[in-house]
Amino acid sequence: MAKIKLEIEKALGAITKEQVYAQASKAMEANRRLENGTGKGNDFLGWLHLPSSITAAELADIQATADLLRSKCEVVVVVGIGGSYLGAKAVIDALSGSFDQLSGKKPVVVYAGHNIGEDYLHELSAYLNNKSFGIINISKSGTTTEPALAFRILKKQLEDALGKAEAKSRIVAVTDKARGALRTLADKETYKTYVIPDNVGGRFSVLTPVGLLPIAVAGIDIQQLLAGALEMEKNTASAVPFEENLAEIYAATRNELYKSGKKIEILANFHPKLHYVSEWWKQLYGESEGKEQKGIFTASVDFTTDLHSMGQWIQEGERSIYETVISVAKSNYQVEVPFDEQDLDGLNFLAGRRVDYVNKQAELGTQMAHVDGGVPNLRIEIPELNEYYLGQLLYFFERACGVSGYLLGVNPFDQPGVEAYKKNMFKLLNKPGY
Ligand code: PA5
Repeated sequence: MAKIKLEIEKALGAITKEQVYAQASKAMEANRRLENGTGKGNDFLGWLHLPSSITAAELADIQATADLLRSKCEVVVVVGIGGSYLGAKAVIDALSGSFDQLSGKKPVVVYAGHNIGEDYLHELSAYLNNKSFGIINISKSGTTTEPALAFRILKKQLEDALGKAEAKSRIVAVTDKARGALRTLADKETYKTYVIPDNVGGRFSVLTPVGLLPIAVAGIDIQQLLAGALEMEKNTASAVPFEENLAEIYAATRNELYKSGKKIEILANFHPKLHYVSEWWKQLYGESEGKEQKGIFTASVDFTTDLHSMGQWIQEGERSIYETVISVAKSNYQVEVPFDEQDLDGLNFLAGRRVDYVNKQAELGTQMAHVDGGVPNLRIEIPELNEYYLGQLLYFFERACGVSGYLLGVNPFDQPGVEAYKKNMFKLLNKPGY
């Protein structure tokens, strides 16, 4: 079976292969600390073995709840923010048809609680009006303001439309097993609930019910997603030698680039469906490493779209960046450029060629230009965009993130800085106790 590949050759120049391989023992040690639970933040390592530890019964239960929501609802609203929605959105966007929502495929999955936009909530309520909808409310702490606010509004709308009893049958809560306002509410209202394990942080929770339930509601095969993740769990274990361990190589390379002055990593894709995989990745690495006045700033672009907006900066702006490109080897469909008798657009030189061939040449041309322009280039190739390889990719990034954070010397599993804005906001809002 084809495998995910990681190529670092085009990143060499700013750093050498010897420098990367000189980090092998540190990267392996970091990976061992993840496995032995002897590193910083070791009470948040539950994500490490999720693919190999989730049971058939747990999966069947998630699938049954998803099927129930699918049978009852035209629309399912996923309420959550940060790690409580980005993983689901990344997978659902990557594996759904680009025009599913416009072509009437049901259920439509929409999102709330990831902002405090009054217009957004008004428009969402208007859209849901007279539609049969359900809600998956996700919050590990159960106290996050954005999703709590959205849920209060949507819960009332659902109860007003259907009555309390029917509304209850369409609300699922994913939260802590005992703590938080959402747990109290869910128990009191007797909602169906799923537990986010204590030892899994939000941004590492895509392979728990946080991600799996909405993904299954969207009709995506969660067993295959986990099968891919399991393969990567095995392939990135600390016993796997450094030269074969993609997570360790990626972690070592990005840390060497950082030390050489490359402070910004731009995740680029050449596939429009991967936009939210980049959003998920930005949180994963940004929140895990950006602390103690250190850490690579994570940015992202969609190519070729953003070559027409950010291409100039990447080619000739400050040389503090490097690029990691996610490339999908094989597209799922084939579209050929047709021959045109008149050739007024001058494209007959491409007649009979596939659109993917054009895209691949754009990718290669971009890589050459950016490398020439002093932008080190890492390339991750996934064989095709499906559940199995996406599961591999997500787990690969998680594992590499843990290793990378340890190489950087920070605790990759906390996020103390996120509290600062909340304290100010609560004080300004006169929340009791602030
Ligand atoms: O990764 C994290 O910890 C955060 O992004 C959280 O997931 C986010 O702040 C939402 O928190 P909660 O799930 O507690 O509502």
